[in-house]
Amino acid sequence: MADLLPHRTAALDRRDFLASLGAMSAAGFSHPVPATEPRGLAPASSDFMFAPGLTYLQTGSLGPTPRPVMERTIAAWHELELDPVYYGYGPQEKAMDMVREKAAAFLGCKTEELVLTKCTTDGINAVAQGLTFAAGDRILTTDQEHPGGRVGWNYVARRFGVTIDIVVIPPGENDAQSIIDRFAKQISPRTRVLSFSHLLTSTGLGMPVAELSALARSRGCIAVVDGAQAVGGIAVNVKALGCHAYATSGHKWLLGPKGTGLLYLSEELGRTVDPIALQSGRAAYSESSGVTNIPGVLGLGAAIDYHLRVGTARIEAHNLDLRNRVYEALKALPVLDVVSAPPGPLASPLVSYRLPDAVDAGALHTRLRDKHKVVVKVVPKNWFNGQRISTHLFNTERDAAALVKALRVELR
Ligand SMILES: Cc1ncc(COP(=O)(O)O)c(C=O)c1O
Repeated sequence: MADLLPHRTAALDRRDFLASLGAMSAAGFSHPVPATEPRGLAPASSDFMFAPGLTYLQTGSLGPTPRPVMERTIAAWHELELDPVYYGYGPQEKAMDMVREKAAAFLGCKTEELVLTKCTTDGINAVAQGLTFAAGDRILTTDQEHPGGRVGWNYVARRFGVTIDIVVIPPGENDAQSIIDRFAKQISPRTRVLSFSHLLTSTGLGMPVAELSALARSRGCIAVVDGAQAVGGIAVNVKALGCHAYATSGHKWLLGPKGTGLLYLSEELGRTVDPIALQSGRAAYSESSGVTNIPGVLGLGAAIDYHLRVGTARIEAHNLDLRNRVYEALKALPVLDVVSAPPGPLASPLVSYRLPDAVDAGALHTRLRDKHKVVVKVVPKNWFNGQRISTHLFNTERDAAALVKALRVELR
């Protein structure tokens, strides 16, 4: 879903653009000169190419692609254009299959269980389209799902007369057992699928995925997980979670090229999930998938390498530590109501806060961006009047301080 965010003024855009153009041509680069300050866990300070002075706390919507990953992507594209048919159906097709292998190992599943997609939405849609339903079947999900995790179920509801049941998870919820109990209570004999996020897009709440998956299994249902906000930001092992299917994006926390994604379809599902795109198998290229974004997939492989180089456990520890600091700092601002989980098992690298009704979250977003160069997300209004920030491997205490300072100034 495109962010419902107002954008910076055209004047400021132009000024920044011209400034970066000057810097670019001076250095002979095709993109802005990198900042030289250390960037969290990034192996090189020049790995991230943000506009000068930008504090980017929006990985949850779109992650920045580090320089080595972008360079690998562009190099692959250059190579492809030397002889498109030879490379596209030859060495690069093989290289994409190796990315698939690498991605499977990264998620902890077998290569045959991994499908390359273009985003989380694409993955969830493939699962929804690939299942067969009868009128009267039911799907159980939550009221906190991103449209990307809902649209596929809305589609089957419309086409086959399936009913969607909703577990309500209010902002501020911090009780995993209560969530599990509510799911258990709402499963009916006709419930076929439990579909829920790993980390809620609204508040970042870490859902009890393993327990909900076990619950689904015990009641003969399929557990489908929307992992858009998890993979890359925290360590994820789909086998340990025990779900049947898990979809994620390459372009958020994995920091890969935009328009890439991963879908885990467990072996035990077999042909239970049988979408059109997988009629000819799950290889990177098949007759039923058609040609894909070859440089993007190869860049996604480089993004996984980048994560492995830094270390997934290290990234998770950094992200949670920084998020906890942000959480405490925001809690100290009396004007905000921090609705994300406190430091602990349900916390994730996302922190959301509710704003007073009198404060327009969208207008505040614009001021934060235009006046302070701090980029946050506006939470869709149907959930609450608030904003969300993401802390990833390139973020630092300095970014946290910039956010708090900007909020202090704008909300005084
Ligand atoms: C939980 C969740 N699911 C799905 C999506 C959609 O992701 P994509 O556009 O990569 O499909 C998002 C995007 O923010 C999300 O937060």
